[in-house]
Amino acid sequence: MSLKKVAVIGAGNVGAEIANQIVCRELANIVLIDKYGDIAKGKALDILTSAALKNSSSSIIGSDDFTLVTDSDIVIITAGLPRKPGMSREELVEANGNIISEIVTNIKKFAPNSIIIIVTNPLDVMTYLAYKISGFKPEKVLGMAGVLDTARFKTFIAEELGVTARDVNAVVLGGHGDEMVPLIDCTTVAGIPIKQLADDATIEKIVERTRKGGIEIVNLLKTGSAYYAPAVSAVEMTEAIIKDKKSIMPVSVYLQGEYGLNDIYFGVPAVLGTGGAEKVVEFKLNNDALEKLKTSANVVRETIEKLKCIK
Ligand code: LAC
Repeated sequence: MSLKKVAVIGAGNVGAEIANQIVCRELANIVLIDKYGDIAKGKALDILTSAALKNSSSSIIGSDDFTLVTDSDIVIITAGLPRKPGMSREELVEANGNIISEIVTNIKKFAPNSIIIIVTNPLDVMTYLAYKISGFKPEKVLGMAGVLDTARFKTFIAEELGVTARDVNAVVLGGHGDEMVPLIDCTTVAGIPIKQLADDATIEKIVERTRKGGIEIVNLLKTGSAYYAPAVSAVEMTEAIIKDKKSIMPVSVYLQGEYGLNDIYFGVPAVLGTGGAEKVVEFKLNNDALEKLKTSANVVRETIEKLKCIK
């Protein structure tokens, strides 16, 4: 069986690590595109060399030539500016909006049948923009955030309780911002409800740390933002699509009435398979979670409005 083709746009830390992980897992052949062609070429050559050591037959080429994206099955967009310490993701809307617009216009031209995964911030708004510009069906445009936010939530629970994160089952919904919604009532550790293992104050502390999980790393790095976990999160989504796994993951998807929300990209559970975000999974939430989701959706909407003013 021949490997699928994945284009990764942006050869910065996140894009290069995504390419590296896909090659390591022998999931697909890669084209790594960056406006700085030599950087893309250099990183691609380095990754290709590591493939030889890892017995992967995935190929990878780096370039600044967008025509190489032609006929990609999946295009992952990581290009754009990261946050600086003290910045919110929403402050990136103008700069990254222009970058995403240009890239998606090219994707439409060269890979009109692809599935687009957005990683660039502000995540839900950039995914909405990609959907509008591409004219693709909504299930073929999705954003990576909930997988990462959920991984952070699980990590912090595990750290607090002194157990392995693998035993934690949890989900974080909402926009990829400070108002994201870790669902306490859905959180269990080896089947045991979190509320029976930690007091309210501890749970609240974990929730807050999860919401600020991205900026905690930005503040430590001083330049740039997290990339190992964001990359693995995007690759998990890519693998589910390529292997038609029908995995339920929290991803940014287009909502058409689900959870009482319309014409917005927002983090909720969806079934990922060959068709992309094949089905939005809707389930009953308590009033507290629904209220919090509304607050988070308002932030996404306000940022979408800013985008409309810019265009
Ligand atoms: C983060 C950035 C990538 O959450 O949004 O780390």
